[in-house]
Amino acid sequence: RVGDLEFKVKDLSLADAGRQQIRLAEHEMPGLMSLREEYAESQPLAGARIAGSIHMTVQTAVLIETLVALGAEVRWASCNIFSTQDEAAAAVVVGKNGTPEAPAGVPVFAWKGETLEEYWWCSEQIMTWPGAEPNMILDDGGDATMLVIKGKEFEAAGGVPDTDPAWSAEEKVFHELLRASVAQSSDKYTKIADAVQGVTEETTTGVHRLYHFEEEGVLPFPAMNVNDAVTKSKFDNKYGTRHSLLDGINRGTDALIGGKKALVCGYGDVGKGCAEALAGQGARVQVTEVDPINALQAMMDGFDVVTVDQAIADADIIITATGNKDIITFENMKAMKNKAILGNIGHFDNEIDMAGLEASDDVTRINIKPQVDEFEFASTGRSIIVLSEGRLLNLGNATGHPSFVMSNSFADQVIAQIELFTKSDQYPIGVYRLPKILDEKVARLHVEALGGTLTKLAKDQAEYIGVDVEGPFKPEHYRY
Ligand code: NAI
Repeated sequence: RVGDLEFKVKDLSLADAGRQQIRLAEHEMPGLMSLREEYAESQPLAGARIAGSIHMTVQTAVLIETLVALGAEVRWASCNIFSTQDEAAAAVVVGKNGTPEAPAGVPVFAWKGETLEEYWWCSEQIMTWPGAEPNMILDDGGDATMLVIKGKEFEAAGGVPDTDPAWSAEEKVFHELLRASVAQSSDKYTKIADAVQGVTEETTTGVHRLYHFEEEGVLPFPAMNVNDAVTKSKFDNKYGTRHSLLDGINRGTDALIGGKKALVCGYGDVGKGCAEALAGQGARVQVTEVDPINALQAMMDGFDVVTVDQAIADADIIITATGNKDIITFENMKAMKNKAILGNIGHFDNEIDMAGLEASDDVTRINIKPQVDEFEFASTGRSIIVLSEGRLLNLGNATGHPSFVMSNSFADQVIAQIELFTKSDQYPIGVYRLPKILDEKVARLHVEALGGTLTKLAKDQAEYIGVDVEGPFKPEHYRY
């Protein structure tokens, strides 16, 4: 803490370096910058206290400063232990007008390489406002939302259940944190759940959680599914990944991709970006899928559809992108080629059985450099290279998606925050998507920024296809 400003980041002296990168990112984020202009006067987020949990990158710094420019107060944590860019975190704390000695920015609690205990401590800090509760959540993956919902549940039950041996390391840490919280206060998270007017959720996995909470009847506030805005999932998940998957593999391993056999597990939006990127480098790409529609898309795009068992022994690069668990098992890893590269780009680290790998007596771990480990199997004499301990490699080994694509996703986030904060009477508890007209607005901004010229519909053309001249141009069920 310096003065009234609480924070925990790696090193405030990195702020200058972060500020330079933020300045360049602003140029590449026309969506966010035009929202700053549009709402400079009306300040639609005045009074909003946003608890934010998204990878603390340079692009997120531009998002945070946009929320502040629109009137919000913000506290921020990263949604992954490896994804923070320390210079961006420092710059946000120092702020445009502060100095490392007298920081004047936003409370950020994030650094690259947090332990699980530190991660959940940081998540708790964004919920702990001096003299107030947060009244909005901005989430990526649903951890911040889950903290509030579970905190409320355990407060109502008068305590946290006993430790279950089946819990993962992360579940144990999460429950311990809430055990301590509930012992201190019987209504901290109940009050927060009551105060929060809405959550806006960034990613596929977090959205799955939201629908699950809604089905269980425990969702305490309305939620905006930002992921399924077209300008989010059809761009960030696909084109963002097409860029940042290679960035992560290159920075992590510098292995040549051309000619290698690559296996991509999952052919959703993220898997499509991964497969295209690897094929673009000249890799021979195979895909696994459970859904015949996605599998057929993969085949039409020129990729073989196989099972993990069929392909694993032959693959040089294996990437999981399913958002599902238990995709690559311990036995799969043991069967891999010597020095095969294994990474996950889905939200959580349970796509690969890292726990099994780390617990095995047969395996020795050799750290090559941060977020790159070799795991050697004594019984076979082979080893594999695992990126970011099975956590999303594009953020662990590189710096995530580039600014321009995040400008789409984050413009959607800002618009969703404004919707839920200013029109909460129109959104009873439930999970919503952005109105299509706003999705089209975000796309239009970026088309213009790239120098594209849109064709304008004539009135009779618009009538002929049954839309308004100004849009929306497609029905809700259109798939793009
Ligand atoms: P999606 O739902 O579009 O695609 C996932 C695909 O995996 C689906 O087609 C599904 O049929 C398939 N799948 C499920 N179980 C499978 C299994 N056992 N074997 C093979 N295929 C299986 O989801 P999307 O948007 O592609 O996201 C995937 C993951 O990536 C999510 O966890 C999401 O949160 C995350 N994500 C990560 C980003 C990053 O920067 N690293 C960016 C955006 C999303």
